[in-house]
Amino acid sequence: MRKALSRKLAIYPGTFDPVTNGHIDIIERCSKLFSQVIVAILINTDKAPLFSVDERLTMLRSVTWKRFRNITLDTFDGLLVDYAMRKKASAIVRGIRAISDYEYELQMALMNRRLEPRIETVFMMPAEAYSYVSSKLVREIFMLGGSVKGLVPVVVEQKLRDKRAL
Ligand code: PNS
Repeated sequence: MRKALSRKLAIYPGTFDPVTNGHIDIIERCSKLFSQVIVAILINTDKAPLFSVDERLTMLRSVTWKRFRNITLDTFDGLLVDYAMRKKASAIVRGIRAISDYEYELQMALMNRRLEPRIETVFMMPAEAYSYVSSKLVREIFMLGGSVKGLVPVVVEQKLRDKRAL
């Protein structure tokens, strides 16, 4: 028997290393569109992240807690569509900043559709102010001693400063 998927539940997956103001913008937008959203951090054992999964969860928790009542946080490994099916979600949300994101995102969305046709990918655009903000650039700026003020939540700025002090 086929599982019924919840039309109201979406997954917003990502690495979130670290969460940026662009991610928060997308979280806010999808919290208005869907009844429930699971922000799901990929446990990626291949990459060497700047922040551990626990640190990323803690930062996400502190910026979403109380502000978004319909957002929950989780971690996952394996295929995203398998995770989404386990949660009975009907949609995967991905943020698209510029055309340059589109090619990779389209490829991923179509591959996910091939793997699981019942799950739709929904692309959302963040505010223009965040169209050039990425976790990768934030990490690079931090590594090179630059300021990431305004690009990430204050708690992330603080965590970056703590890392620098280590
Ligand atoms: O924040 P990111 O790094 O752009 O997120 C990428 C993510 C986590 C969405 C993607 O790597 C993913 O879904 N990984 C899980 C493994 C998977 O399902 N791979 C097949 C994708 S078509």
